[in-house]
Amino acid sequence: MTQMTTTKAGPNLGARVEGLDLRAMTPEEVRELLVPLLHEYHVLVIPGEVLEADELEQFARAWGDLLEHPASRVEETPYVQVIFSEGEGDDRLGQWHSDMTWHETPPIITMLQAHVLPSEGGGTIFANQHLAYDTLPEELRSQLDGAKAWNSGKAFGPNMPDTLQPAIRTHDETGRKALYLNPVFTTEIDGLDQTTSRELILRAVQHGTRPEFTYRHRWEIGDLVLWDNRSVMHYPIRDYSERRALLRAVVAGGVPV
Ligand code: OGA
Ligand code: MN
Repeated sequence: MTQMTTTKAGPNLGARVEGLDLRAMTPEEVRELLVPLLHEYHVLVIPGEVLEADELEQFARAWGDLLEHPASRVEETPYVQVIFSEGEGDDRLGQWHSDMTWHETPPIITMLQAHVLPSEGGGTIFANQHLAYDTLPEELRSQLDGAKAWNSGKAFGPNMPDTLQPAIRTHDETGRKALYLNPVFTTEIDGLDQTTSRELILRAVQHGTRPEFTYRHRWEIGDLVLWDNRSVMHYPIRDYSERRALLRAVVAGGVPV
């Protein structure tokens, strides 16, 4: 393997990792070289050659078992999705979230590789939820510590589950705590009335998405960006009106605690 170099991508999260051949990486190399970087920086930006769906799947499998996703998938495999937008006529706006928090075992890692990009816009923002937890006002923290929140998958269909997740999640490998509430899937804090619950989620999310905690990625074709859903929320910026297509795979995790 060529020499790997790492540079910080933003002051509070993100690292750019260069010199890797993703087609050749083994699970051992991922564990030794990349997992420690992911735990330290939470988002890894790996520029490189565009991968076919089966190549992305193979690289993703070096990180663990993969999950299927109800969103659109490629024809070849149920484990690679296409994040596609025509831009034109698509008036959905982005929203902050951690992936699939409605799932009993949400993916710990999501990876995306850019294949087609608009000539401007279409970036992705990440927010460090460990930092959000560490700086949470005491009065909010005391209400959220130990609390559980309902997360709903109904946006993906009527038969998708509602799942109870911890409001504060402890990273199973680093032991660090993170805010684990998001405005897309989190519907209410268990045991609180609707109004109190909504206000608490809103205030927590407002704090967790402060610009100080964020890194904004401006995509180049071939960038593979992977992030730890236990540590960050992300926001797709829908500020473009041309085609955008990224391939995606998600790595399975355990039950959040
Ligand atoms: C995702 C996602 C962000 C983007 O794939 O889960 O939120 O910028 N994508 O496309
Ligand atoms: Mn997402």
